[in-house]
Amino acid sequence: MDSSVPSPHRAARPAQPLTGTCIVPGDKSISHRALMFGALAVGQTRISGLLEGEDVLRTAAAMRALGASISREGADWLVAGRGIGGLTEPADVLDMGNSGTAARLLAGILATHDFYSVMTGDGSLRKRPMKRVIDPLSATGAQFFAREGGRLPLTIIGARNPLPLNYRLPVASAQVKSAILLAGLNAPGITEVEEPEPTRDHSENMLRHFGADVSVASAGHGRVIRLKGQPELRGADVTVPGDPSSAAFPLAASLLAAGSSLTVRNVGLNPLRTGLFTTLREMGASLTVQNERVAGGEPVGDILAAHGELRAVDVPARRAPSMIDEYPILAVLCAAARGTSRLRGLHELRVKESDRLTATAALLRVNGVHVEIEEDDLIIHGTGTIPGGGLVETHMDHRLAMSALVLGQITSAPVSIDDARFIDTSFPGFLRLMRGLGARMEAA
Ligand code: S3P
Repeated sequence: MDSSVPSPHRAARPAQPLTGTCIVPGDKSISHRALMFGALAVGQTRISGLLEGEDVLRTAAAMRALGASISREGADWLVAGRGIGGLTEPADVLDMGNSGTAARLLAGILATHDFYSVMTGDGSLRKRPMKRVIDPLSATGAQFFAREGGRLPLTIIGARNPLPLNYRLPVASAQVKSAILLAGLNAPGITEVEEPEPTRDHSENMLRHFGADVSVASAGHGRVIRLKGQPELRGADVTVPGDPSSAAFPLAASLLAAGSSLTVRNVGLNPLRTGLFTTLREMGASLTVQNERVAGGEPVGDILAAHGELRAVDVPARRAPSMIDEYPILAVLCAAARGTSRLRGLHELRVKESDRLTATAALLRVNGVHVEIEEDDLIIHGTGTIPGGGLVETHMDHRLAMSALVLGQITSAPVSIDDARFIDTSFPGFLRLMRGLGARMEAA
């Protein structure tokens, strides 16, 4: 949590221009995976650039409770793994805090470890559906006991003789895909998972990096991933790039606030994560990528964003997996764009840290923007001047909190949020970083 201001309430006031250069914390998806794969490998994994946000620290604590040894050495994190199948029964409940990724990926690991465990989370995570992993993972032979609707707390009795899975994902979800691959690590034979649309492939990339045999083939619009079970994963060095989903906030603030021009360095540019940047270009945003390179097996670059007029956009549903976490901040940008935007096919937003479809619409409405929800589409009527003055309910959702504070940079009256604490789950130091660039965000 940001300790510079004790109150959880924050207000954002119209900004001066945002200028300068910054880096954002490490990629959340890659950070979780680096700790988990490190714990399942033999030997030492050294991670640089790990996101030290609350979500990832929960994963570190859980992997420790399962027997891995994890420590910080200078700026790096070291993991001494237990090898595939080598984790041990935890002595207590595993608390995954606010993190759906941590909970769902860990369910995959626990399904094929022959012991008893119980997983819980905070008020937001305990509302989120786990059935999407419980159903396929049960076919390994593992037993799951959950609350009504497949909610946490969840008891898992891992399979003694795990079976490999062959599963077609009903929804495009990298978390479910990864849970199945993680379960497949400790099952003999080939685990196969088919996704209807390509989703972030950090698990596939990292599995290969740790020495697993993984193949990926196209299938219609999507992909089929095959993993050969029971490989010997070897500890490896992992360099975590800056999280493009976090970079989105300072970049958006710069696009919005008159006179701004700023650079975010070392941002991950995995093509399955860059749907927002494609969309911003369609809106006419001034966005330039410099210094493109590969670091730690992932493409990275420096992104320069400068203020300019934005036009409305129609985002196809098929693009959603590549920008699934960016819709709240995109909606803020659309509110300031000329014309009516339509963001299509957002059913998955309903099961994020909050019901992000409803909550994003509410965030804009309370600040005077005309918004509609039609089935799974969000329709935003852009307006030249946004009144602001609203108190945004953030529902324990970090991305709603940051999106509201960015909106407050361009409204006539300050925008307030009810709770800033959850920002630390993915972006510790957000307020400090934004203020350093010229944003006005303060205790209400
Ligand atoms: C993630 C996948 C996405 C995303 C989440 C991180 C991951 O969730 O929203 O923030 O690391 O695999 P879904 O798999 O539910 O789409």
